[in-house]
Amino acid sequence: MTTTKEEEEESEQVVTPWDVSAGADGKIDYAKLMREFGCSEIDATLIERMEKCTRTKAHPFLRRGLFFAHRELDEIVTAYERGEKFYLYTGRGPSSESLHLGHLVPFQFTKWLQDAFKVPLVIQLTDDEKFLWKDLQLEDCRRLARENAKDIVACGFNPETTFIFADASYMCSSFYVNMVKIAKCVTFNQAKGIFGFTGDSNIGQIGFPPVQAAPSFPDCFPHMFGMNKKSLKCLIPCAIDQDPYFRMTRDVSHRIGGYKPALVESRFFPALKGESGKMSASDPTSAIYVTDTAKEIKNKINKHAFSGGGATIEEQRENGANLEVDVPWKWLNFFLEDDEKLKEIGEKYGSGEMLTGEIKQILVDVLTPMVEDHQKRRALVTDEVLDVYFNPKKIPKVFLDLFREYEEKEFGKWEKKKGGDAENDDLCAALEEKMKLEGATENEEGCAIGAPKSEDWLRIRKERMQRDAPTEGSKSALKKAAKIKVAAEKKAAEKAAKAAARGEAATCNKN
Ligand code: TYM
Repeated sequence: MTTTKEEEEESEQVVTPWDVSAGADGKIDYAKLMREFGCSEIDATLIERMEKCTRTKAHPFLRRGLFFAHRELDEIVTAYERGEKFYLYTGRGPSSESLHLGHLVPFQFTKWLQDAFKVPLVIQLTDDEKFLWKDLQLEDCRRLARENAKDIVACGFNPETTFIFADASYMCSSFYVNMVKIAKCVTFNQAKGIFGFTGDSNIGQIGFPPVQAAPSFPDCFPHMFGMNKKSLKCLIPCAIDQDPYFRMTRDVSHRIGGYKPALVESRFFPALKGESGKMSASDPTSAIYVTDTAKEIKNKINKHAFSGGGATIEEQRENGANLEVDVPWKWLNFFLEDDEKLKEIGEKYGSGEMLTGEIKQILVDVLTPMVEDHQKRRALVTDEVLDVYFNPKKIPKVFLDLFREYEEKEFGKWEKKKGGDAENDDLCAALEEKMKLEGATENEEGCAIGAPKSEDWLRIRKERMQRDAPTEGSKSALKKAAKIKVAAEKKAAEKAAKAAARGEAATCNKN
């Protein structure tokens, strides 16, 4: 049978940040997506390197190829192996009261990354995006942003190293500056090509991509990372639907003086009624929400989960289930942690030894406690708790600690190199040298991971110097005292010269 061009187009899979639909065969062709988007596959070697440098077993999403594609994740890992940190950036468009299980996928994985790599995290809530695309008032989107943030916090993010912000509230000068710089690099024709904008798109939509692109640069968060666009590299975990935003970002990064953000991208957690369907808030039976009760979970799975099993018991026994399309099997791949048990279920169900009702019951038993636990944690997220995550003011101390951790690591290396008697000034010089070598020269104030040399930084450095001070009269104490004296004299002379240049000496004399 021949197909017309229109029919072919109709059956093409569509994956954009706003629409995801499978091809004619009801499946998403991920290999094709990777080719079209130009990202790379995550291979076993890369996973092994991640395990090694974090000393943490890979998350099941990684082990099972659910996070399957990346852009320069290998470079992030290489840099981390050298002792460099990075920050994580992910997000959510708040368009419904609560998250569905698919939304949990990137957040659970981000939590794993945060814990394993011990890095800071920023989470963007695009209330503006949802206002521009959906039939919602801006005030509703802003409220939903806070509601959704409660579900996000319930995933267990470290309150000390996680900053959550909603666009309509956070937008600040350095964020805006990044946005305009990005916007100037992308023509309307390019935006049409990447995002499919048409003459009917409102101009808010056309102008939105730089809003999601900007947090890929650390200077959008000066309170956390300082003002250097290259102080830290960025890694973005998300499903592959968000790739177009970051393809655009990576294309313009060098032109605005930043690093390209790296990405780690997942497959889609399929809709309850099958991969060709969509999880939609307007059809509550298409998805399980984190607010669903045990009864709702059971009913939805039993009544609506698309089955690849035989139509009758006999057929199932004879032919087994088609695991390629079976939703309970696919969902277990995401949320059943036990690898052995999963393998056994796959074999039994695929061969017909297990029936559809049985695998559905296993899924109910896995999801019910998971969702109930989530609800218990969410109940603890009061407005006060939420404010801790939204509050940028608490951040500097935290990032200082991260810097300290990093510094200690470097100190260890330096000590070894120098035979064990390096002094603190040497340590700082070594760190600054390292920073220069890594190209972080623009930041006069910053350090290799971007924490500014704040009052706290200087205080800690002083405390450490006191703690590690050599005993009085020792060779190194004398050497140090002499060094301090020379430095103090030099500083005093410089100060006097500067004051003289400003004519302050005369004023001082008068006083
Ligand atoms: P949103 O709200 O559509 O989705 C939030 C996150 O969930 C992922 N996701 C899924 N993952 C697996 N299976 C699914 N079925 C599924 N559906 C959604 C999305 O890829 C996303 O990671 N514009 C964004 C918000 C955003 C963002 C970001 C996302 C702003 N900055 C940076 C990722 C990274 C949005 O509306 O996501």
